[in-house]
Amino acid sequence: MSVVHDKLPDDFFFGAALSGPQTEGMWQRMGKLENLWDTWSNLDLGAFHNRVGSYAGNDMGTRFAEDWQTFASLGFTSARTSIQWSRLLDADGKLNPEGAEFYHRLFAAAREAGVEPFVNLYHFDMPAYLFRRGGWESREVVEAYAHYAATAFAEFGQEIEHWFTFNEPIVEPEQRYEHGNWYPFLHDYQRARSVQYGISLAHSLAVNAFREAQAAGVVRPDARIGLINCFTPPYTRENPSDADLEAVRMTDGICNRWWLDLVTCGTLPTDVIETLTERGIELPTRPWDEQILAQGKVDWLGFNYYHPARVQAPASDVDEYGQPVFAQEYTWPDAVMNESRGWEIYPQGIYDFAMTMARDYPDLEWFVSENGIGIEEDRAERDEQGRICDATYRVPFVRDHLRWIARAIDEGAKCRGYHYWGAIDCWSWNNAYKNRYGFVEVDLAHDYVRRPKESAAWIAEVARTHRIS
Ligand code: BG6
Repeated sequence: MSVVHDKLPDDFFFGAALSGPQTEGMWQRMGKLENLWDTWSNLDLGAFHNRVGSYAGNDMGTRFAEDWQTFASLGFTSARTSIQWSRLLDADGKLNPEGAEFYHRLFAAAREAGVEPFVNLYHFDMPAYLFRRGGWESREVVEAYAHYAATAFAEFGQEIEHWFTFNEPIVEPEQRYEHGNWYPFLHDYQRARSVQYGISLAHSLAVNAFREAQAAGVVRPDARIGLINCFTPPYTRENPSDADLEAVRMTDGICNRWWLDLVTCGTLPTDVIETLTERGIELPTRPWDEQILAQGKVDWLGFNYYHPARVQAPASDVDEYGQPVFAQEYTWPDAVMNESRGWEIYPQGIYDFAMTMARDYPDLEWFVSENGIGIEEDRAERDEQGRICDATYRVPFVRDHLRWIARAIDEGAKCRGYHYWGAIDCWSWNNAYKNRYGFVEVDLAHDYVRRPKESAAWIAEVARTHRIS
């Protein structure tokens, strides 16, 4: 960057991103039902780093008053967490009063600390009994989700201003159904896209339920609803072939444009659907689906950014499981890697994608809803005061991303804020506590005690001054 963009607008907000299943713990208390993470943990605890299964969270369920204060001390004015479907409703789809009471207390404590709670309704945490009925491939489950969303709006509608239907709806289709990484470990491209379609309908039904609840005065008039996805700006190699560009089109189409079109136009990208059909992949459509999807337009969007997508034409049209392949990974020779996570660090990607949105979806308001760096055991180096020395890598990571965000805003992007992922270390899917993201340490050996890391003072200063030092 020739000009350094180091100032963010005065009304730009800073905050934290977290999720219910990764923080709450209390997995069998207050009437909480089993979700798919509990199912997998019960089946095979060895699949989780150091055998730390879904039960752990980071003990926020009991320490939330302290944690909201900690976020406030970092200069954060908002934080997004999620309600767990498996805690709010019982197996008959009725409100679980203990679960509801827990979330009322959680949100009230956030407010008391001066932190605005943003509420997401689903973070990869399908209740096990609904998975057994078909999960996102089943219309019954899609409708059950709409009912769950409507129940949440009725219960918290006067408290919560910022709602989100899903976090990263692209991830379950890919991880559970396409790449076989997460329970139930499938390699089935057709089912992955059916799941993606089911989630798209569920999102749209929930947005409709929100609009109805707002019109009826159940949801407060200033409330807004959005969707959060991990968008990956796609790149290919220099001097690409037509086939490389085709790989970019489909990667972008499935991961990015699918959701952007849904939330801005209430449609799915026709070029993507046509290519899928040509390859024998059919979405399980029904006659009234277009009207349902048309209701999927949101008030704003969350953009989770960790890494770009670098793709090229695939060597073969099908993989070892006989499944269609539209792109394969391209290793960019200049890539800087976070080796702990295996993700490329490419701060400019946030700017590139911001400018794509400004060009193709100019009315869409958004915020960076997750960004962060997870390093294995935070390299375990400490200073004399016992603080983890993370400033040499965590500060430049965040600083560089913020500078590209500032530049995008200076050039017209409608980005309103930044939420850092896992600001207090938390449990992370099958990596559990391997990679630490926090500005604040969670000490597992000492009953989840929290301790600020070296980077905490830096982010607090940036969040207060809006100067990216
Ligand atoms: C996002 C998710 O994909 O990335 C979070 O919304 C997740 O739930 C975060 O924890 C970091 O990824 P990971 O796999 O390192 O925890």
